Amino acid sequence: MFYACFYFYCYTMKFYGIISIIFLNKIVSAQNWSYSRPDEWPGECQRGNRQSPININFKNTIMEMMRPIEYVNYDRDFVAVIENEGYTLALKFDNECCDKPSIRGSVIQSDYTLHNIHFHWAAEHTINNRRYPLEAHFVHYKTEAGNLTNALNFGDGVVVLAVLYELSEISNDVFDVITRTVDDVAHRVNQPVQLDAKISPESLLPENLDNFFAYQGSLTTPNCNEVVTWIVYSQPAEIEESQLEKLSDIYTEDDKRLVQNYRPLQAVNGRGVLYTRGNYI
Ligand SMILES: *[C@@H]1O[C@H](CO)[C@@H](O)[C@H](O)[C@H]1NC(C)=O
Ligand SMILES: [Zn+2]
Repeated sequence: MFYACFYFYCYTMKFYGIISIIFLNKIVSAQNWSYSRPDEWPGECQRGNRQSPININFKNTIMEMMRPIEYVNYDRDFVAVIENEGYTLALKFDNECCDKPSIRGSVIQSDYTLHNIHFHWAAEHTINNRRYPLEAHFVHYKTEAGNLTNALNFGDGVVVLAVLYELSEISNDVFDVITRTVDDVAHRVNQPVQLDAKISPESLLPENLDNFFAYQGSLTTPNCNEVVTWIVYSQPAEIEESQLEKLSDIYTEDDKRLVQNYRPLQAVNGRGVLYTRGNYI
């Protein structure tokens, strides 16, 4: 009798053990890392050797002439939504009008489709140790992979265009459109809201697209997958200080102000960083 009870007790423990593992996994995948403890990020974030972001030291770059990148549908105006993802503010385009924006050519070996544009404050990449106040990531997945999740299984699955912004006295119209809606998502994680005007991806890029750095790295958030070709424009774009304050006024899942969301710099580990000024020179 005692034995049977003991056995039953063990069985019960096992059962709850399985339930709690499933439950914990759900929490872990939802929100289990933070910008205040990057040394506790999982997987490749600790083990990897081609991680991002990095400091780009201009004098160590390899100068090469390259054709310009081809931007498809970047100049079209799209219906767009913004979403507070708890770790960033992300912008997504509705493709009812036409094919999604995409890029190809130059250092990019195949066709890549725009997944989202999101922001980091302050910037993640630094140039000659200078850190700008804001960086946008235009995340693209390899078109043949079909979506970003699938693309993480390809060694060359992702291309991210990184735009640095410097503070300007003149406000940037596209940020007015975005910031008008930030209040509606500031305290609501994962609930996208449509912007009240159409915008084009191009309006968030710098004027000069021919001068950029390129290197092989990783996602800058867990699981830090080493599948990313980074394109970092050397010319910054502009944002007004009050626009930056508004854009970054969002709150995490547990309703704490997301004060900063940049990952610390990672070791270059001998990686080559290419610098191109297009094919003009
Ligand atoms: C990505 O595409 C695959 C099919 O190829 C699908 O099973 C999966 O649900 C998609 N993932 C997302 C996040 O859309
Ligand atoms: Zn990013």
